[in-house]
Amino acid sequence: MKRLIQMAVEAREKAYAPYSGFTVGAALECQDGTVYTGCNIENASYTPTNCAERTAFFKAVSEGQRQFQRIVIVGGKGEEMSAPAPCGVCLQVMAEFCEADTFEIIMAKGEDEVTVKKLRDMLPYGFSL
Ligand code: THU
Repeated sequence: MKRLIQMAVEAREKAYAPYSGFTVGAALECQDGTVYTGCNIENASYTPTNCAERTAFFKAVSEGQRQFQRIVIVGGKGEEMSAPAPCGVCLQVMAEFCEADTFEIIMAKGEDEVTVKKLRDMLPYGFSL
């Protein structure tokens, strides 16, 4: 857990967020133990903005990963840390690949201040075909 939080903190340093000033880092652990990190990447046109969580998921899936255990998210405005919750779009992406009753979403404000939720708790009625 500590290592994942540190990796998310490092990923946050790469965030490109000149419009909101809110920088986010994520560390996604796959079933095989591999970790993919991500940061938010904003855009002048706003809607193309990609959240840190989706950056991590798309990196992982594009490398052939399909099974995931947990994701750590850190972020905040400027230097502050506020343990952001994933947005609805990111939760829907998680629902595409993760087991809702086991996949863990770890929102970290620091190494010792974490909130852990199952995907099922965060998105009880996700869309599926
Ligand atoms: N953002 C994330 O990257 N992940 C979250 O969990 C919440 C929001 C980003 C999107 C945008 O660049 C900035 O934070 C403010 O919404």
